[in-house]
Amino acid sequence: MLDKVKELIGEVDAFQSSNVEEIEAFRIKFLGKKGILTDLFAEFKNVAEDERKEFGLYINTLKNAAQEKVTFLKEVIENAKGFKTKYGDLTRPAEPIELGNRHPISLVKNQIVDIFSRIGFTVSEGPEMEDDWHNFTGLNLPEHHPARDMQDTFFLQKNPDMLLRTHTSSVQMRYMESHQPPIRTVSPGRVFRNEDISARSHCIFHQVEGLYIDTDVSFADLKQTLLYFTKEMFGKSKIRLRPSYFPFTEPSAEVDIYWGLETEVDYKITKGTGWLEIMGCGMVDPNVLKNVNIDPTKYSGFAFGMGIERIAMLLYQIPDIRMFYENDVRFLEQFKSVR
Ligand code: PHE
Repeated sequence: MLDKVKELIGEVDAFQSSNVEEIEAFRIKFLGKKGILTDLFAEFKNVAEDERKEFGLYINTLKNAAQEKVTFLKEVIENAKGFKTKYGDLTRPAEPIELGNRHPISLVKNQIVDIFSRIGFTVSEGPEMEDDWHNFTGLNLPEHHPARDMQDTFFLQKNPDMLLRTHTSSVQMRYMESHQPPIRTVSPGRVFRNEDISARSHCIFHQVEGLYIDTDVSFADLKQTLLYFTKEMFGKSKIRLRPSYFPFTEPSAEVDIYWGLETEVDYKITKGTGWLEIMGCGMVDPNVLKNVNIDPTKYSGFAFGMGIERIAMLLYQIPDIRMFYENDVRFLEQFKSVR
């Protein structure tokens, strides 16, 4: 008899449930009017006198254990209900943390800067609000020079001598003022031009310009540097330089890379030629060097400049420049896996 009670105590201890009906069934089974405990108490009178004390002790233990179990399990359910309304289900796994990602302009800028830093270029930055000297005059573009029209300019209303830089060549001017050759620097940054906004051009965009000044720098050095860049950046090893004009370089050239004509998109973006223009470049004009007190009889150098949006559009086949500035997460999320 005693063993039976001990067994029942074990059963009560082991019972677990978070289901209200199951708990109720358990309660009725042990503590109900026709339950196990009622039977056991009825049994009491049949127990031999010398065993009664011990038997009584055990059925009391059993009764308490069953009662405590029922109260405890009910409480657990009640508490969980409380959490649900106040904080949500606290046992639920946490929300996954969304990983952020960089903007495609930053990705491409970092890539360009990385490539040049591997061959010894430092990074230089300057103000977006510039004076006329650093953006134009010092770069061999005196007032009324017709080439100023190549870059329609936003002037500041309060101070018409100040403007929003139209290129990061202004940073190179500042860098040359404060550094003596050898100079190797790239200047990434935001630039502004008073142009109509369309799928292909915007009034705000980004550039990386580069400057290299030392003794005996030749056009061949420029070409080799650009070739290295296009190989690293695009995996393309065919470039051509077309004669061009920039006031701050002489001679000047536009750089085209051979993109190929494999897909329909290739035909579209290269207008059926296979060639794509990616940047301007040239040998720094001696007048510019004079303007920053670098002796042009001793030093020579080259400069180049490219638009980051244009390169990003080529690399990721982005059809409209405005997508960069709309911050549509469906667009931005596509660059998650890009490092
Ligand atoms: N500054 C020129 C532009 O913005 C690009 C350039 C830089 C061209 C250096 C030649 C040399 O269009």
